[in-house]
Amino acid sequence: MSDVTTFSATVTATTRNGILVVTIDNPPVNATSADVRLGLSRALAHAELEATISGLVITGAGKTFIGGADIKEFGKPAIEPTLPDVIERIEALSKPVVAALNGAALGGGLELALACHYRIASPAAQLGLPEVKLGIVPGAGGTQRLPRLIGIPAAMELIASGRIARAGEALSLGIIDEMVETDLIEVAITAVQKLVGTPLRRTSELAIASADPAELEKVSGKLLAKARGQNAPAEAVRLVASSHRPLGEGLADERATFLTLRDSREAAALRHVFFAEREASKVAGLEGVDPRPVSTIGICGLGLMGSGIAVAALGGGYTVIGLDQTPEAAEKGHERIIGLLERNLASGRLDQAGFDTQTARLSATATDADLAPCDLVIEAVFDDLDVKIDLFRRLNKVIRQDAILATNTSYLNPDEIASATTYPERVLGLHFFSPAHVMRLLEVVRCRETAPDVLATGLAVAKRLRKLPVVTGVTEGFIGNRIFSAYRREAEFLLEDGALPHEIDAALEDYGFPMGLFAVYDMAGLEIAWARRKRQAAARDPSERYVEIADKLCEAGRLGQKSGRGWYAYPDGKRAVDPEVTAIIEAARSKKSIKPRAFSKDEIQQRMLAAMVAEGEALLAEGIAARASDIDLVMINGYGFPAHKGGPMFAKG
Ligand code: 3HC
Repeated sequence: MSDVTTFSATVTATTRNGILVVTIDNPPVNATSADVRLGLSRALAHAELEATISGLVITGAGKTFIGGADIKEFGKPAIEPTLPDVIERIEALSKPVVAALNGAALGGGLELALACHYRIASPAAQLGLPEVKLGIVPGAGGTQRLPRLIGIPAAMELIASGRIARAGEALSLGIIDEMVETDLIEVAITAVQKLVGTPLRRTSELAIASADPAELEKVSGKLLAKARGQNAPAEAVRLVASSHRPLGEGLADERATFLTLRDSREAAALRHVFFAEREASKVAGLEGVDPRPVSTIGICGLGLMGSGIAVAALGGGYTVIGLDQTPEAAEKGHERIIGLLERNLASGRLDQAGFDTQTARLSATATDADLAPCDLVIEAVFDDLDVKIDLFRRLNKVIRQDAILATNTSYLNPDEIASATTYPERVLGLHFFSPAHVMRLLEVVRCRETAPDVLATGLAVAKRLRKLPVVTGVTEGFIGNRIFSAYRREAEFLLEDGALPHEIDAALEDYGFPMGLFAVYDMAGLEIAWARRKRQAAARDPSERYVEIADKLCEAGRLGQKSGRGWYAYPDGKRAVDPEVTAIIEAARSKKSIKPRAFSKDEIQQRMLAAMVAEGEALLAEGIAARASDIDLVMINGYGFPAHKGGPMFAKG
């Protein structure tokens, strides 16, 4: 072993038996910053010139190979050498270069590996070109080299979806040449030695396997449908589909497309979301606060929500004890959870060994005292204050003094629930979204007396459940449902003012929501919200504008798709404008003497956005939400706001 050679602040190397082992050490994720590119280009020059060096290994320090281009450099003036320059020099080198993928090789990181002459990965490595998730396409050869390596359809699927593949899949696809459990660097050095003096396999010189046009059409059709109007996936499909043209032409087109997209509003929005997700778990007052250890979670109420939470908790490696009112209900809940796990098994999300360990960690009971071993208990019972207070009083008697209690209420005041316990500082809200084992968003509610380590525990548990936690203060509906109420109210005002449900839905879908508001209502059913409105009727401020249209629909038996009709009619199962609904809306307008007027798509979108923003600003002013980007995350991950618009607060500009 020789001494360490320093090529730049982030790139060093050792020489082992004439092989230069180059390590990129640029925490946190070894992004290819200007200094990394400089160091790599110096290392390449050194290897080229130094006769005693016969080849190179490139690897990353820590648990990442290279997390991609440095996103923080986007929008700043380019610094030479560019990543495509460095990558081309690697591929063109006369001496063999082997990539030793010690961890994630993403975006520019995978593009760099694709230009190496051989790729070896540890089983922990994850490979992918997730650029479309940032509103861009790969900009350093990914769309041209990957199809040469694995064929057009497979490359198109990976690049236009941004999906990450594990090392095992990457091996079977042909992205890597070897996967090794141990001694990655030793194996890589041996690989370089074997390649010395042999013709080097340069990815860009490989012939592209011809693809079946029907298969290609199927793959691209699916990807474009999923992209729903976003530019980057469509451009990725186009670039991969045309990758059989001369390499130089393909690379130039790719780079130009990358640069145009990088400066687009869509990419700025998605970058905002990327950083917002990482900001969300940085909570004021929790610096240096350790979460409490949690290994056993109790879940009270094993209905749809409770079962979903149980599946998420089992997936996070926790032992789960479910509680329901009677032994029969507990048994039914147990079966429901097993049923969800079986579905995961059937879909391949869970393997047999995982299924067996998860079911072994699950039990269900109707006896409160059985929750005694729990470190955290999450209630998901009926959303009624008396029911929840009664439950918390009972739990207070059976759980340890240091165990944490969480309420999953959507609309009740968790401070009132907390006050039913002797230690309100150990109570917080964990507001899951249904289905809880699928939806990523988790509102973590900081109650009046929640202790910092209790809040930190909520965040730590959320991470293990693979959720996106967003901290909210106490207010009716928390961040999400409060903004959603404002959104819904504005849509109803628009109805009275002159727009029809299908016009509002079309405007929302055109904006990027997967489904318009009224179509969502019909799918979910109108009766629960109707019942709530009836309960709240007495407390309503008579001076506030109230729109009766939804009530009239319910009174007419139009309760949504389940009753065959709601805001729409459903002849042949497809939604259609129903004159009866239009008549109800017109009657409501005349009752208030409102003269309807036409609304353009743009006007509808602007009014809906403005309503969300106004409520978001109120939440910030009240200190319920800590930052505007938290609000964006809630609306994107819980309410279908299009991520490529960046969330309402970002979109307002
Ligand atoms: N550039 C700059 N900063 C980055 C970064 C990147 N590519 N990737 C991650 N970071 C930062 C994060 O913002 C975070 O910063 P913070 O600590 O100040 O909040 C820190 O690194 C750690 O990130 P994570 O919390 O995400 O760390 P994990 O260990 O959970 O995940 C990862 C690591 C899987 C690499 C994940 O960070 C990730 O997916 N990164 C983005 C990957 C990506 O999209 N790459 C493509 C970039 S675009 C590109 O390469 C263009 C090319 O084609 C030319």
